[in-house]
Amino acid sequence: MLGKFITLEGMDGAGKSTHIPHIIAILQAQGHEVVSTREPGGTPLGERLRELVLHEPMHAETETLLMFAARREHIDCVINPALARGAYVLSDRFTDATYAYQCGAKSVAADKIEMLEKWVQADLQPDVTLLFDVPVEVSVQRLLAARSPDKFERENAEFFTRIRQAYLQRALENPARFRVIDANQPLDEVSKVVEKIILSL
Ligand code: TMP
Repeated sequence: MLGKFITLEGMDGAGKSTHIPHIIAILQAQGHEVVSTREPGGTPLGERLRELVLHEPMHAETETLLMFAARREHIDCVINPALARGAYVLSDRFTDATYAYQCGAKSVAADKIEMLEKWVQADLQPDVTLLFDVPVEVSVQRLLAARSPDKFERENAEFFTRIRQAYLQRALENPARFRVIDANQPLDEVSKVVEKIILSL
C-alpha cells in the first residue's frame, strides 16, 4: 500500500466533518490525490445500507453486521484501490465507530467485532485517526439544535457518555495511531490543531 489512510472519529456533534474541506485542501496543496469518503456509506450499496441502518430500528448485532457489510464493499471498491495507487484516503468514520457505538454504547461483544474486523479488513488499519473529543453536554446541545436527527442522534446523554469513553479507551490502546483533539474550542483553534497534525504526516 503506497497511500495513507486517515480516519475521522468522534461523537455525533463533535464537529469532525466540518474539517474535511480544510484537510483535503492541505493534502492537495502537497500534491496528493485525496479520496474523501465516509462510513457507513462510501459506495452506492453502502449508501443504501446507511439509509437502513440510520433510520430503521434493528438489533444491535444486525446493525454491526450491516456496518461491516457496507465496510467490505467500501474497502474493496474505494479504499484499497485508492491506497494502491498512492492516494490519501480520508474517511469520515471507520471501524473505531463500531467499537464505540455498537460495542461501547450498545454492548455488542468486542470479540464478535474483532472477528468481523479480521475477516473484513485483513491487515487494513488506518495510518492515523483524528478523534474529535468534546464533553457529552456539548455534543447533546449541538444535536438538539440539529433539525432532523437520525436514530443515533436521538439517543440520551448516557448513551453518548458510553461512546465517548469507548473512543477514549480505543485511543489509549492505540496511541501510535490516534491523535485526540480537544474539539471544545473555537473552530479556528481546532482547525489549527488539525492542520498541524496533517502537516506532520
Ligand atoms: P455520521 O453522522 O458521522 O455520518 O455517522 C452516522 C452515524 O452512524 C453516527 O451516529 C455513528 C453511526 N455509526 C455506527 O453506529 N457504527 C459504525 O460503525 C459507523 C461507521 C457509524
